[in-house]
Amino acid sequence: MDLSTRYLGLTLKNPLVVSASPLSLDIGNLRKLEDCGAAAVVLPSIFQEDIENEIDEMERLVAEGSSEAFSYFPAHMAENVGPKNYLDLIRKARAAVDIPVIASLNGTTRTGWIDYATQMEQAGAQAIELNIYYLPTDLNQSGAEVEARYVDILKAVKGAVSIPVAMKLSPYFSSVGHMVKTLDQAGADGFVLFNRFYQPDIDLEELALVRDLKLSHKGEIRLPLLWIAALAGNVKGSIAASTGVQTAAEVVKYLFVGADAVMTTSALLRHGVDYMKTLHDGLVADLKLREVENISEIRGRMSRGAVGDVAAFDRVNYIRILRGGVHHG
Ligand SMILES: Cc1cc2nc3c(=O)[nH]c(=O)nc-3n(C[C@H](O)[C@H](O)[C@H](O)COP(=O)(O)O)c2cc1C
Repeated sequence: MDLSTRYLGLTLKNPLVVSASPLSLDIGNLRKLEDCGAAAVVLPSIFQEDIENEIDEMERLVAEGSSEAFSYFPAHMAENVGPKNYLDLIRKARAAVDIPVIASLNGTTRTGWIDYATQMEQAGAQAIELNIYYLPTDLNQSGAEVEARYVDILKAVKGAVSIPVAMKLSPYFSSVGHMVKTLDQAGADGFVLFNRFYQPDIDLEELALVRDLKLSHKGEIRLPLLWIAALAGNVKGSIAASTGVQTAAEVVKYLFVGADAVMTTSALLRHGVDYMKTLHDGLVADLKLREVENISEIRGRMSRGAVGDVAAFDRVNYIRILRGGVHHG
């Protein structure tokens, strides 16, 4: 059976990719994930704030010109501060596994940290995933301005590297499809749909914000499923599904709507990194049952363009469902 797929111009042995999370900080985990069938791995994000803080700290040390600070600098800063460690992580990951290693850059402006993308490439990253985690809480900022920021950052990063760049997006744009298409035209090599935004809760006893990150459940595939179905075949860049993969069934569904790669994190955090093998074997078993020899036979077969009943994805169906009532369970 041929499970191979193309993602960001890279050939992957199958569509299963480990999405960005602290799991990939551990080189032992990366080796295990590769052995269990992962076809590529995304390292956890390095944040613009981390990169800028090191730069600021270096500027301060230079400005102070203190010999104590300088003697202190190489041993302490260079070895322990985030951004350098991250470049080491890329090098170690490349040395440890044969599958592609994708570095993740997380920021919200185009200044101060774009050079770091070049360093990621030099350290051996085979692609960069750009996660612009930007919450436009400034009520004077228009949607068009927010979108321009994404395009601007993408262009800056694309200008700094020659490896492929994927955009990891949230679904919170007034026209998600148009945003993806605009980034596609601006040179994005692929899209990770979707990012999960951190959303605080309130602890009513303590009257404090609850800052936790909930793992996903399989019902959450529906939003990415809808958008991947609409975008597959309509953009040049490749598409990775992210959110809600708990079993091989979600992987197969994402392939049917047209994903080139399918990412997972919550399932691995819940069940351990060995669970990648369960997903891999489950995918093979499902395709065998369908007598599929090559995943290209199913990929996109249920995209919006391929499904005869386009209305099933659209408003007509929404009205039918609302009139027909809710199914429990
Ligand atoms: C503990 C944890 C840490 C994460 N760290 C990152 C990160 O550093 N960068 C990033 O882009 N996404 C990060 N994510 C998001 C995941 O990569 C993924 O997009 C999200 O969890 C949805 O996929 P899932 O349903 O398979 O978990 C993190 C998620 C979790 C649960």
